[in-house]
Amino acid sequence: MNFKKIGIVGFGQMGSGIAQVTAAAGYKVVAREEKEELLQKGLKGIEKLLDKAIEKGKATADDKAKVLGNISTTTKLEDLADCDLVIEAVTENLEVKIPIFKALDKACKPETIFASNTSSLSITDMAVETSRRSRFVGLHFFNPVPVMKLVEVVHTVMTDDAAFKDAIAFAESVGKVVVRAKDSCGFVVNLLLVPYLIDAIRWYENGLATKEEIDNAMKLGCAHPMGPLELTDFIGLDTIMYIGEIMFEEFRQPHYAAPPLLKRMVKAGYLGRKSGRGFYDYSKK
Ligand code: CAA
Repeated sequence: MNFKKIGIVGFGQMGSGIAQVTAAAGYKVVAREEKEELLQKGLKGIEKLLDKAIEKGKATADDKAKVLGNISTTTKLEDLADCDLVIEAVTENLEVKIPIFKALDKACKPETIFASNTSSLSITDMAVETSRRSRFVGLHFFNPVPVMKLVEVVHTVMTDDAAFKDAIAFAESVGKVVVRAKDSCGFVVNLLLVPYLIDAIRWYENGLATKEEIDNAMKLGCAHPMGPLELTDFIGLDTIMYIGEIMFEEFRQPHYAAPPLLKRMVKAGYLGRKSGRGFYDYSKK
């Protein structure tokens, strides 16, 4: 692997986290968003995290300058033309992702490896839309990216060994531990995590215990950092519902289906931390 320049499409929570760890590892990063204000928001978020780390004595002003100095931003996909690897982290919707990959396929040099950070969509569905099916992988990071150690590196039946090895080497070079997975819906983590979260919502809806009791049970009984309802708020209720729907579509098993309470809360706009309210109220924080 001889990667120098990494493109990141989508500079939201996941994209900016991936940009931060990639830039910290010494790569040049080109981050692309549709609008300039989203690029500024992503950069501000990274700056804030770095300032916090400096306050805690866990980073220096030089570290901050290095990370920010390694990130450039653009609204044009063509500016990613000479990247060695492009990681897509946009909305979880094939109708959004596929046109982006098609445009990147035209713009980027033939050797560029493409990766999607999708949590539940098929890597194969995206790869077949490009002329580089054998150099297309999944690189699934976890939120918050700077904290979570894991990256799932996903291969399809078309991925060639060299590209897969390069993707693994890249993930390790940004300080992550790799779990290799086949292109199967939800890979490893979400396949196991999402039905657990959905089950917790179902039992909460059935009146098993209060939300605090359900969360405390899993935190104190299993040493999880967050209980399932807290974690659903953290990830986003809409995201969990959406991933559950994709899994239900794929496997046709009822335990993946969103319970009525989850659907109603999403409809009401209670999406979790990002909307200020989910199972808990975040409006005053
Ligand atoms: N970005 C970067 N760093 C963050 C952060 C963020 N959003 N939130 C917290 N941190 C850092 C803090 O700066 C702190 O760093 P230091 O130890 O270096 O000081 C550290 O994380 C601990 O933070 P706090 O003390 O503020 O809070 P905490 O101890 O309660 O930890 C947490 C917060 C790390 C989020 C922890 O609660 C946790 O691990 N929760 C579970 C998260 C999880 O399961 N993520 C996976 C979600 S599933 C997914 O992402 C896949 C998908 O496809 C849906």
